[in-house]
Amino acid sequence: MAILVTGGAGYIGSHTCIELLDAGYEVVVVDNLCNASKESLERVMDITGKSLTFYEADLLDRGALLEIFEKENIESVIHFAGLKAVGESVGKPLEYYHNNITGTLVLCEVMKAHGVKSIVFSSSATVYGDPAFVPITEECPKGEITNPYGRTKAMLEQILTDLHTADPEWKVMLLRYFNPIGAHKSGRIGENPKGIPNNLLPYITQVAVGKLDCLGLFGGDYQTEDGTCVRDYIHVVDLAVGHVKALNKVAKSQGGVWVYNLGTGIGYSVLDVIHAFEEANDLKIPYVMKERRPGDIAKCYADPSKAEKELGWKAERSLKDMCRDSWNWQKNNPEGYVK
Ligand SMILES: NC(=O)c1ccc[n+]([C@@H]2O[C@H](COP(=O)([O-])OP(=O)(O)OC[C@H]3O[C@@H](n4cnc5c(N)ncnc54)[C@H](O)[C@@H]3O)[C@@H](O)[C@H]2O)c1
Repeated sequence: MAILVTGGAGYIGSHTCIELLDAGYEVVVVDNLCNASKESLERVMDITGKSLTFYEADLLDRGALLEIFEKENIESVIHFAGLKAVGESVGKPLEYYHNNITGTLVLCEVMKAHGVKSIVFSSSATVYGDPAFVPITEECPKGEITNPYGRTKAMLEQILTDLHTADPEWKVMLLRYFNPIGAHKSGRIGENPKGIPNNLLPYITQVAVGKLDCLGLFGGDYQTEDGTCVRDYIHVVDLAVGHVKALNKVAKSQGGVWVYNLGTGIGYSVLDVIHAFEEANDLKIPYVMKERRPGDIAKCYADPSKAEKELGWKAERSLKDMCRDSWNWQKNNPEGYVK
């Protein structure tokens, strides 16, 4: 029996494939490569010394998905595939709703047609909006979300929950990620954003490697200790391990809906991250303070204790590890997967 990993060639997906292969799972990846390269999967196979099956296909292509489900013996799905740029989603709402929502609907219909009723879904801390409290527990009410990307996550959580209400045999695991950064310790796979990165770490590493001159900090007047935004950065390998733990839980159950925060529980400010990066890699990162970005919130960090109690999972890697591994990836692959 195999695990189908949608979006498996992407950043979090490729790291999760490594953990799945290392844990002995058979892995089938479907990805349309709209934000990824097949090379990441070649490297996953190199790193693990194991093989996986890759289909270049779009989730919106029902025929292609049906064929994959007919050919492969799929037991469970880990569903990463989706568009994820918050800013871009504001300008392209139809693309985001169509790709993320319709893509998931087609996937679930095909799963249902084949009697596969187990899905681990990539949700996000963004569903909490400006959180009612920090650290954020899973009981924290969902907040007002300010962009279409985040709304697709909240809507999909609801759609998948409704699926379980209609048929209690469905096993739905909603994993709310905080801020994944870092890379595999080999430095061979990592985050590969196109254009100017939206997220802090790829921005820092691109300044460090000389692709960008200077880092822009969006707002130094938030109600935080040093005035910059506070986030819960989590090493992508810890996050990937969380998916293997989630699958273990799903496999043992008869059906249900579960929600877990995957974060470290520690909030670091933007300045903390810059300083940690400089220290870990003995580099200087020039930065300028800019205006706040619309939609950014002051503080967002998890209470991850539910995942520890129920999944037996806890993030183990430090901010220093994250900074070192991000840089190791970027300096060895300044152009990402382009050879
Ligand atoms: N990276 C983060 O900060 C973060 C935080 C919270 C949640 N998430 C979610 O986790 C998931 C994975 O994120 P990531 O950072 O690895 O992103 P990514 O862009 O690297 O990976 C997503 C993958 O999905 C593929 N894809 C997109 N639409 C597709 C479609 N219609 N059919 C087939 N493949 C498709 C892309 O080619 C890409 O490889 C996404 O759902 C994202 O929204 C990411």
